[in-house]
Amino acid sequence: MKTGTLKGRDFLKLLDYTPEEIRSLLDMAKDYKEMKQAGISHEFLRGKNIALIFEKTSTRTRCAFEVAAHDLGMHVTYLDPSGSQIGKKESIADTARVLSRMFDGIEYRGYGQEIVEELARYADVPVWNGLTNEFHPTQILADMLTIQEHFGSLKGKKLVYLGDARYNMGNSLMVGCAKLGMEFVACAPESYFPDKALVAQCMQIARVTGGKLSFETRPQQAVKGAHALYTDVWVSMGEPMEVWQKRIQELSPYCVTRELLAAAGEQAVFMHCLPAFHDLKTGIGREMGQKFGRDCMEVTDEVFESKRSLVFDQAENRMHTIKAVMAATL
Ligand code: CP
Ligand code: NVA
Repeated sequence: MKTGTLKGRDFLKLLDYTPEEIRSLLDMAKDYKEMKQAGISHEFLRGKNIALIFEKTSTRTRCAFEVAAHDLGMHVTYLDPSGSQIGKKESIADTARVLSRMFDGIEYRGYGQEIVEELARYADVPVWNGLTNEFHPTQILADMLTIQEHFGSLKGKKLVYLGDARYNMGNSLMVGCAKLGMEFVACAPESYFPDKALVAQCMQIARVTGGKLSFETRPQQAVKGAHALYTDVWVSMGEPMEVWQKRIQELSPYCVTRELLAAAGEQAVFMHCLPAFHDLKTGIGREMGQKFGRDCMEVTDEVFESKRSLVFDQAENRMHTIKAVMAATL
């Protein structure tokens, strides 16, 4: 097992990591996955304690951190969206200094990226970003591991992101593709393209790595030759319910359908960070579906359930990649 030069580092966004460092985390995750599959236990971090702060809800990220921590021999304390003093009665700076006296690492999921950055500035232990409005870096590691497993390599692979490309998933996938020499296409109405300053930064990175970035409003054109069609919910956590109507109107042409997957070519796979609105079996999906006369939102049930859908491989890989991040930085 490779040991890291990443000891003591925070994991706040992929922009802070070199392509080599990202690749080393993917290699570690692959090793950990093989060990798990072979039933080899590896409690390398026995006796350590980590805190998980969730100011937004989660299934995958929380479970991935907890299971990965347990596999590594660590103890976990979970602070739920309402069960701590953070932000209400205690500042981020004070919270960071208190938790640093008790824990060896801190995961944070919440709102603005500046909050996790502030937490990391004041904490004496590694801080891991479990999702902010702007970035979701642990998700990207899982996605890249999944693409690598499926296609054998990452370099030159074309990923088309359809939907709201201004938010955490669009931003982070763009950074990840630029860092790893891949081709990234944001496909959305222009007002949903990523932030111009971040695009400029990623363009510079891509020039060095051989990556490519482009922005396209027409789905049929964008997806041609793509290896992966990636989408995410049209309304993210923390956004008001009132935006659903506008999003549905503007993003409906970007729904991933059988026709769009066919236009990409037979090599193309479907990816989604989850949770997904692919049917009417969820509260919000049913409510919005009935209100706006739809049976799905960002992806059809047919594509989601198809053999070309890698969504559950991605979900599993959250655990292996998060394990690598913790093992490398602790
Ligand atoms: N993909 C992801 O972050 O899922 P959760 O919101 O369930 O953690
Ligand atoms: N964009 C989504 C991602 C969920 C994993 C959100 O922020 O809600």
